[in-house]
Amino acid sequence: MLFGKKKGVAGLDVGSSSVKVVELDGKLNNLSLVGLGYENLPDDTIVDGQIMEMNAVSEVIQNVCKDHQISANQVVTGVSGHSVIVKNIVLPPMSRDELEESIDWHAEEHIPYDLSDVSLDYHVTSQTNDATQVLIAACKRERIDALKQAVQLAGKQPVVIDIDTFALQNCYEINYQPDASQTVALLNIGASTMNVNIVQGVNSVFTRDITVGGSQFTDILQRNLGLSFQQAEAVKRGVVDPQSNMDEKSIEPLMNNVTEMVAMEIQKTFDFYRATTEDTGVQVQKILISGGGSKLAGLAEELSSKLELPVEVLDPFRQIKVDTRKFDPDYLSEIMPEMAVAVGLAVRGVEVR
Ligand SMILES: Nc1ncnc2c1ncn2[C@@H]1O[C@H](COP(=O)(O)OP(=O)(O)OP(=O)(O)O)[C@@H](O)[C@H]1O
Ligand SMILES: [Mg+2]
Repeated sequence: MLFGKKKGVAGLDVGSSSVKVVELDGKLNNLSLVGLGYENLPDDTIVDGQIMEMNAVSEVIQNVCKDHQISANQVVTGVSGHSVIVKNIVLPPMSRDELEESIDWHAEEHIPYDLSDVSLDYHVTSQTNDATQVLIAACKRERIDALKQAVQLAGKQPVVIDIDTFALQNCYEINYQPDASQTVALLNIGASTMNVNIVQGVNSVFTRDITVGGSQFTDILQRNLGLSFQQAEAVKRGVVDPQSNMDEKSIEPLMNNVTEMVAMEIQKTFDFYRATTEDTGVQVQKILISGGGSKLAGLAEELSSKLELPVEVLDPFRQIKVDTRKFDPDYLSEIMPEMAVAVGLAVRGVEVR
């Protein structure tokens, strides 16, 4: 179709607890929301980042797209967790060709897996007379293959496999247009993984995926109070089941234990960042949180007081036009924290279409 509508590329975030999809239209500096969907995954369909129930996952992807009229057939999706390795490496000055030829050899020592088992990508971040700085990203190939398969089974075509932590950064950049004087820590607290990306202006200076998230709060309630997954989720979200005669006083200390642990993991990451960037490192000025796990009542305040930094909720639609006749503002603000990565993936979709 010669004058037909430009084909869209949606952002599809397959998390371990839910699938999110976002479709954007327009130019990068003038984006509008055209599609948005969210659906929970059955418990244990994705464990430790690994797809355990291929059909169940693809069915949810298919439903979330169908139910929310996502017209794009192509999607950008992402990976995260411990099978994803992202590193900034410094190499001697060299030409693009020399780099292309030697990248596997250079990357090998930074990747704890056999290179034949991973998919490797790289990007030159700076080139001077003394050094070539390269950002390398690698992911276990079986993870990528499984994700692609789930997407294809759902009738969609995966055109780019991105990395969640970069999608998070893309979402931040589009919406906040930071200048080089701003250093923020982006946190995406999911169900099983927390992505941390420290960004100076529009440059990522440190990333790490930590295996903590909202499901740890649910687990501890399940185990200590003898609850089912659904009951524990409800208790965690403050919707206490009046039928159950549970000891409400025991909830708070259990939750506090996990909050402490999450705050400590973030603190350790910031300390590590400071130690590895000793004199050049800039101080983190602010934390922007996202992810369903960040919705835990009081968590933002706790993190702010423990880490002595302002903590704000990242707004993934801050600079995106939203037609409130089509998208209910109350629903949008309720699921806003969960949508950050999907928005970032959709931004990438706009870039590649
Ligand atoms: N109101 C709430 N209060 C507390 N926790 C919440 C709330 N809403 C959602 N969560 C938690 O957020 C988590 C899901 O967040 P999210 O959708 O960002 O994760 P995910 O992308 O599926 O997982 P991951 O990225 O770790 O694979 C779950 O642990 C869920 O219990
Ligand atoms: Mg997630």
